[in-house]
Amino acid sequence: MNLHDYLQSRRALVDRMLDATLPPANTPPAVIHEAMRYAVLGGGKRIRPIVAIAAAEACGADVEPLLVPISALELIHSYSLVHDDLPALDNDDLRRGRKTTHVVFGEAMGILTGDALLTEAFAWLAKPIAGVDAQRQVRAISEVATAIDSTGMIGGQVADIVAERSQWRAGVPAPASDGGGDGGAPLPDDRDALIRELHFIHRNKTGKLLTASVVLGGILAGGTEEQLAALRRYGDALGLAFQIVDDLLDIEESSAMLGKTAGKDVAQGKLTFPALLGAEAARAEVARLLDVAVENADMISGPVNTLTPIARYICERRS
Ligand code: IPE
Ligand code: IPE
Ligand code: MG
Ligand code: MG
Ligand code: MG
Repeated sequence: MNLHDYLQSRRALVDRMLDATLPPANTPPAVIHEAMRYAVLGGGKRIRPIVAIAAAEACGADVEPLLVPISALELIHSYSLVHDDLPALDNDDLRRGRKTTHVVFGEAMGILTGDALLTEAFAWLAKPIAGVDAQRQVRAISEVATAIDSTGMIGGQVADIVAERSQWRAGVPAPASDGGGDGGAPLPDDRDALIRELHFIHRNKTGKLLTASVVLGGILAGGTEEQLAALRRYGDALGLAFQIVDDLLDIEESSAMLGKTAGKDVAQGKLTFPALLGAEAARAEVARLLDVAVENADMISGPVNTLTPIARYICERRS
């Protein structure tokens, strides 16, 4: 199977599971269930469930019984997008080619939809799984929880917002169309410290959930400790690369192509790889991280291994 067909078939598995397992839209109170379904269904690349599936398959598992906890990763990701788009954060009105959840359902429902999706995700992660013992399942749940807590994804989102509202540009040459932040505590203006902060933001706000997705697939599949360690290194490299590519696409692509507002990072004064280091250095870093990911994918010699083509796709994607 070529990569395109692989991605399409695995995305379809996840989409079917999400549609069948989310509460029906008419469940009272209907508005929250409509909003949850709106936020999750009808768009999105489903990268996090797909890397979890690929990791489980690489470790030799039949993924069918694992699709509920794997789809829970998409609930978490979708919640993070709903909240990321809120007026108090990135203030976006376009997502996955449609109006953002808070624009359609109002800000209060936007906040509550995120809360509901996060909670729903842990209910799905905790459902009994045929062929997986409770100890292994608890390990997988804990992996996800620590990836998205205040020392993980939320910590990264906090640092992203703090950086945006700081005077970080004072220490670096400003891009031509600098919109600036709205003024906050200055970040250190020494370049090395800014680069460290940028890595912290990207690894946490995006990298850790991607790593946890890959590792969850391996844990639920009963992978060996060596396989799990290789999956973790693969996920760490790919997770960072994923966000650098997101930053590059924000500058290089159109809103129509991305299904979300292009050019926002510069307008909002985000601390990003291209803003701090330039697009060329950012691309070079993606290439280096892809090599690391591929090297580790090669260490997992399962019956099927699509981890390498998926890594290439993530680094070469245009949306
Ligand atoms: C966008 O994620 C937000 C980031 C964490 C960079 P995706 O690019 O995976 O968005 P969807 O799910 O395909 O819409
Ligand atoms: C989003 O990063 C990260 C999370 C939602 C955790 P961005 O703010 O760069 O994502 P986009 O560009 O809005 O998709
Ligand atoms: Mg953001
Ligand atoms: Mg955003
Ligand atoms: Mg972005």
